[in-house]
Amino acid sequence: MKGLNLDHNNYAELLAQAKEACSNAYAPYSGYKVGAAVLWTSGRITTGSNVENASFGLTICAERNAIFQGTAKGERKISALAVAVLTEEMPSPCGACRQVIREFCTDCDIFLINGCGEAKETSLKKLLPDSFGPEFLDINI
Ligand code: THU
Repeated sequence: MKGLNLDHNNYAELLAQAKEACSNAYAPYSGYKVGAAVLWTSGRITTGSNVENASFGLTICAERNAIFQGTAKGERKISALAVAVLTEEMPSPCGACRQVIREFCTDCDIFLINGCGEAKETSLKKLLPDSFGPEFLDINI
């Protein structure tokens, strides 16, 4: 993958699973396919794609689908997340997804992958600085 030095073994697998989820996205309205894969601290990887709906407001993003697949398995701590699109422009998780990621970690590695075989590493803290989370309400996940 151009632009990344993937020294963590699981990260190569994480990126591959995000790309596979992207190919299965259901996005007939926008045509903008997104795939996401979450690496949990347990080592489990869960995936999701965006799923659109004729009633547009019911659309759900790939990132949240990937996270909710994990919580349904009992996962609560995100270690890393990868997001893949087919366009030349890098993906950027929407504000709602950033806040949902924050529910399950204070920070994590985030990999962005475009359709040209390029990847970029960022983090939740960079994408959502000065964030609000469960600890503010005395909840320790
Ligand atoms: N989308 C995602 O799946 N993740 C994001 O972070 C940004 C937006 C989806 C929602 C919709 O199906 C399409 O991309 C266009 O907004």
